[in-house]
Amino acid sequence: MLVQLDCIHEVNNEFIYRPIIAEAVQRMMDFVNKPQPVALHTEPSMKILLIGASGTIGRAVHTELAARHDVITAGRSSGDYRVDLTDLASVEALFAATGPLDAVIATTGSLHFGPLADFTPAQYAIGLNDKLMGQVNLVLAGQKVLNDGGSFTLTSGILSHDPIRYGSSASMVNAAIDGFVRGAAIELPRGLRINVVSPTVLSESLPSYGPYFRGFESVPAARVALAYSKSVEGAQTGQVYLVD
Ligand SMILES: NC(=O)c1ccc[n+]([C@@H]2O[C@H](COP(=O)([O-])OP(=O)(O)OC[C@H]3O[C@@H](n4cnc5c(N)ncnc54)[C@H](OP(=O)(O)O)[C@@H]3O)[C@@H](O)[C@H]2O)c1
Repeated sequence: MLVQLDCIHEVNNEFIYRPIIAEAVQRMMDFVNKPQPVALHTEPSMKILLIGASGTIGRAVHTELAARHDVITAGRSSGDYRVDLTDLASVEALFAATGPLDAVIATTGSLHFGPLADFTPAQYAIGLNDKLMGQVNLVLAGQKVLNDGGSFTLTSGILSHDPIRYGSSASMVNAAIDGFVRGAAIELPRGLRINVVSPTVLSESLPSYGPYFRGFESVPAARVALAYSKSVEGAQTGQVYLVD
């Protein structure tokens, strides 16, 4: 009689539990096989210094980044702070005034354009001192004050590799900036990053530069600004972002 009862009990247990276990296993397999949403790692808001914010590119970069970050502006004659990038002491004073930063962007740089036959050393010195050394000064001083993992984003231009008439200084200086960024990237300490944006002629600048850039397709400043966003908000370093 006892044996008989045990048998009934076992049979009943199996009858009750087997479908429950099968359903649990099925649910587990469904969970494992179904692609689960990945939690995206998004950077918190950064404190960004933008030098050249009043310019054609600078204004677009400000619009792109100010929506997500605290963007402080600087320029020779406009912005939250005044700075002359050609003067290292002025750049050091700027960093002392801003305090710690997560990113520094330069959308600056003056150059002389003219026929090679008439170019003078003083005219080449304009681009070398302003566009090249101005941005180099920013990195020399900034590497000591940027927060760990911070970034520099500089500006060069398409003429480094796609020259036009009268643009020998621009070709020289832009190529030098690209080279500086590649070299500096492998030496910067504390996870600091550095990239450069190298745009073609901007659509907004065609009224002034159009005749010198026949056959070049222009890009809107808003599209160029995305490369600065990639540099600041991404993880790459030592990159030359061509926007053409
Ligand atoms: N526009 C284009 O089609 C184009 C295409 C390719 C590359 N780029 C390059 O992109 C850069 C910006 O061009 P952009 O057209 O935007 O120039 P932009 O309109 O003339 O603006 C230049 C900005 O840089 C600031 N600046 C210039 N020299 C400075 C210095 N020594 N110290 C501090 N700030 C300085 C100016 O400030 P203040 O006005 O206050 O002096 C201004 O905000 C240049 O290097 C240019 O060669 C431009």
